[in-house]
Amino acid sequence: MSKNSNNLAALIRTRAGDAPVKVGLILGSGLGHLAETVDGVAIDYADLPGFPHASVSGHNPKLVIGDLHGTRVAVFGGRAHYYENGRADAMRLPLEVLKELGADSLIVTNAAGSMRPDIPPGDLMLLNDHINFSGLNPLIGEPTDARFVPMTDAHDPTLRAALSAAAAKVNIPLPEGVYAWYSGPSFETPAEIRAIRTLGADAVGMSTVPEVILARFLGLKTAAISIITNMAAGMSDENISHEHTKAMAPTGAAKLEKILRQFLVAH
Ligand code: HPA
Repeated sequence: MSKNSNNLAALIRTRAGDAPVKVGLILGSGLGHLAETVDGVAIDYADLPGFPHASVSGHNPKLVIGDLHGTRVAVFGGRAHYYENGRADAMRLPLEVLKELGADSLIVTNAAGSMRPDIPPGDLMLLNDHINFSGLNPLIGEPTDARFVPMTDAHDPTLRAALSAAAAKVNIPLPEGVYAWYSGPSFETPAEIRAIRTLGADAVGMSTVPEVILARFLGLKTAAISIITNMAAGMSDENISHEHTKAMAPTGAAKLEKILRQFLVAH
């Protein structure tokens, strides 16, 4: 933890109150509605020195702190991706702040392409593991031995069970699979998709893995859910584009919102 995160947590407490946060949520494209329904305080990233600019269209760069279904949450309406500025640790400060605010868990959401014909666009996938296909790591340069973070069970079995139970309760299928992080911002080639499919990946995206690594480094339990917006390159005739991602995200987002609400009720 840094002096900077300590100062930011203090600043956030003056605006949002001292009650400790329990769960952090990082919202991917299309999930903005959830943040709007939090009974609490919204702070622009721009008012939090050191927070990323989170410039990707479809994201809403605000931190919302408050109550959602009886759980005190910190909702990150936007994330910084490696491809924006070449920094894999772009979300380190926000996650340090989350930890300072008292959270014990982080739920990460994203948009992803599917390599599984049985998980088509509009469906969701709960990550049961990931492949860091980018070879990048947000902890490069971290000087302490804490950098040697174990990544077995990085996708926490207890949180996954709770999310699966929530999905079952609201009758939404939530298959599990492996997510591969590809740096972006260009989409993958069909050959790259064949490669990562062969290596055991079920979905592909440009985020989440650095955040999961950072969260584990900070001692936060993590789980992540992908909104499938398209079949990955070469797996269907449909064009892949950011516009398509944004257009498709709301279908899955509506389902994911229901699951997250149920998860928080039971948390
Ligand atoms: N590849 C990488 N990232 C993505 C995709 C994809 O096909 N769809 C949504 N985000």
